[in-house]
Amino acid sequence: MHYRRLGRSGLKVSEISLGSWVTFGAQIDEPTAIGLIKESYNQGINFFDNADVYANGLAEEVMGRAIKELPRQGVVISSKVFGATMPGINGKGLSRKHITESIHASLTRLDTDYLDIYFCHRYDPDTPIEEIVSTMTELIHQGKILYWGTSEWESWQVIEAYGVAREYNLIPPTVEQPQYNLFHRKRVEDSLMPVCRELGIGLTTFSPLYYGILTGKYNEGIPQGSRASLEDYSWIRDRITPERIEVVRKLTEVANDLKITPSQLAIAWILRRKEVSCVITGASRLEQLDENLGAAEAYERLTEIDIDRIFASLGTYQES
Ligand SMILES: NC(=O)c1ccc[n+]([C@@H]2O[C@H](COP(=O)([O-])OP(=O)(O)OC[C@H]3O[C@@H](n4cnc5c(N)ncnc54)[C@H](OP(=O)(O)O)[C@@H]3O)[C@@H](O)[C@H]2O)c1
Repeated sequence: MHYRRLGRSGLKVSEISLGSWVTFGAQIDEPTAIGLIKESYNQGINFFDNADVYANGLAEEVMGRAIKELPRQGVVISSKVFGATMPGINGKGLSRKHITESIHASLTRLDTDYLDIYFCHRYDPDTPIEEIVSTMTELIHQGKILYWGTSEWESWQVIEAYGVAREYNLIPPTVEQPQYNLFHRKRVEDSLMPVCRELGIGLTTFSPLYYGILTGKYNEGIPQGSRASLEDYSWIRDRITPERIEVVRKLTEVANDLKITPSQLAIAWILRRKEVSCVITGASRLEQLDENLGAAEAYERLTEIDIDRIFASLGTYQES
């Protein structure tokens, strides 16, 4: 496992991380989740991603019990705030009230004294940026979080937060967490990457397999028990279109020639970008985790010719 600095900060994260969305506290049982965390840690993963809204807080509770079996100093734990998790008009968003109440709730569920990284899960147009940046700075001064970041913010919003921090001697965001994968790449490459590179902000990217579609597992239909088969995820079923499956088939040919799997190809393609501090993966089984970890070795072997073939497979397909 290789480790990369989180942007310009001194924090080092494994270039592959494990996240808990859909899986922890919901799709998979607790022993499986704990087994995934243990195996990840044994394989060198040190960064585990979470959010207060995942499985209505259960994902944090399960992860909290899983990390009890590991040295706290050896892991980097993140969670997020923004979604509606509490009663009343102030039970969501990025007001000082909701952020403060949410960090306490997340720390209790994760049963830890501090979070290594705390993300603003989305931008909140109803809260002044000064209030968000100063609240995050206070949480760092209080030792409740060590670094803070944004998720799915536009580049101008990241610039705004950074500028306010510099103007008022507050602590700027260290990291942005966007969706980034072979299908969904334009916004990140054209807008976020140049800004984050310039400001020294790291990128921890999510959904590298486009919810599993880039693995090729949906090429012949929807397997029982897969994410797209789950009742609440019809929006993923809607994304399994003939156009996307056609691209996945072409990518699979490239992967076969390289003697890697389509999943490894998709993750390796992201890891080749130096702006990326870490790819946050998801897994519902140990075999998936082990397969995906193979991408760390695969990306070092990708040549310019391979990259050209990957882009040729994508053709004009471009989501955003
Ligand atoms: N900040 C945000 O707004 C945001 C949004 C989304 C995700 N995230 C973070 O990013 C993490 C990863 O996102 P994601 O779960 O969407 O990632 P993903 O890699 O696009 O999808 C992961 C899912 O694909 C399937 N899969 C994974 N590896 C596989 C393999 N080798 N072969 C076959 N199937 C495989 C599994 O689902 P099945 O086995 O059920 O098919 C797995 O749960 C999340 O856990 C979360 O921490 C953040």
